[in-house]
Amino acid sequence: MIFHKILINWYLGNKRDLPWRNTNDPYRIWLSEIMLQQTRIEQGLPYYMSFTSSFPTVFDLANASQDEVLKLWQGLGYYSRARNLHETAKFVAYELEGVFPKNYKDLLKLKGIGDYTASAISSICYNEVAPVVDGNVYRVLARYFDIDTPINSSAGIKEFKALAAELIDEKNPATYNQAIMDFGALQCKPQNPLCETCPLSDSCLALKNNKIALLPVKLKKAKVKKRYFNYMVFLSDENKTLLEQRIGKGIWEGLYQFPLLESTSLIDAEALLAESSVFLEGEGFDPKITLYNDTPIIHKLSHQHIYTRFWIVENTKLGDIGIPLTKIKEYPVPVLIANFINEFELSEY
Ligand code: ADE
Repeated sequence: MIFHKILINWYLGNKRDLPWRNTNDPYRIWLSEIMLQQTRIEQGLPYYMSFTSSFPTVFDLANASQDEVLKLWQGLGYYSRARNLHETAKFVAYELEGVFPKNYKDLLKLKGIGDYTASAISSICYNEVAPVVDGNVYRVLARYFDIDTPINSSAGIKEFKALAAELIDEKNPATYNQAIMDFGALQCKPQNPLCETCPLSDSCLALKNNKIALLPVKLKKAKVKKRYFNYMVFLSDENKTLLEQRIGKGIWEGLYQFPLLESTSLIDAEALLAESSVFLEGEGFDPKITLYNDTPIIHKLSHQHIYTRFWIVENTKLGDIGIPLTKIKEYPVPVLIANFINEFELSEY
């Protein structure tokens, strides 16, 4: 049997029952595909449910504030996806009268939609012959054809896209694309793939050449950078604290945080005081500073590890610039800060 037929047969017996599989509404498919980039289905599913319940249509999403969108996205990571999602929702709602573009080429013009997402939406919603290549597809093809071109090199990206284009079932692109992704996620898994029960095992070249565990090949990424974050958690006499919004390019743009002092290594209270006088001086300030966690919390992102310590700053008056502690959970914050707020029970002060 040919490759695509085997995959589709496997899919018909093994496919996952997912809420976005019962629709071809491009709004919902777009939402699910953006959420599932760099995210496992089990992690993305609750976010899909809360987004579709809060924003049933692209107009509801467009009319929301950025804070509301980021709050619902909180914990899913890669927040530029959420900001682009919101921007594109506004464009589709206000400039395109709520109608998504109907083909790969036009979808690609929207902010936050790249080759993968344009292929997924155009194939799933409109049955366009547009092959998807995500992490699952790279793995299945690298193994089945024993290809060791690195999947994150420009040569690899081209080679795998061309191969995917040859293999797609031109009569059933929607089913084929989802079949190969589910096959990669469930059968041809990264670790311990199920080769004994695999319908492709007779002709799988990596299995024959004993290279399953070696494929796909990925070029090593740049060295991970270490950063040191000192968050100052103000607890004022009026039960208020300070939050600032992260601006500019970089991680967590648009999210809120406690006033931050970044240092080049771990620092003590004296250095914190010396470096952050803007926050800690002025009328009504006679701060008492205590370190909450001596051992830094290490928050790992793909290219950086953030060594984080929280400093409690008491004995201050914040007046109008302070935020009541009872409202703190309304703000979208990085998970690192959400965890601190919960552990310290800050909103219950
Ligand atoms: N991963 C991301 N999108 C997917 C889809 N539509 N089917 C299977 N796996 C996926």
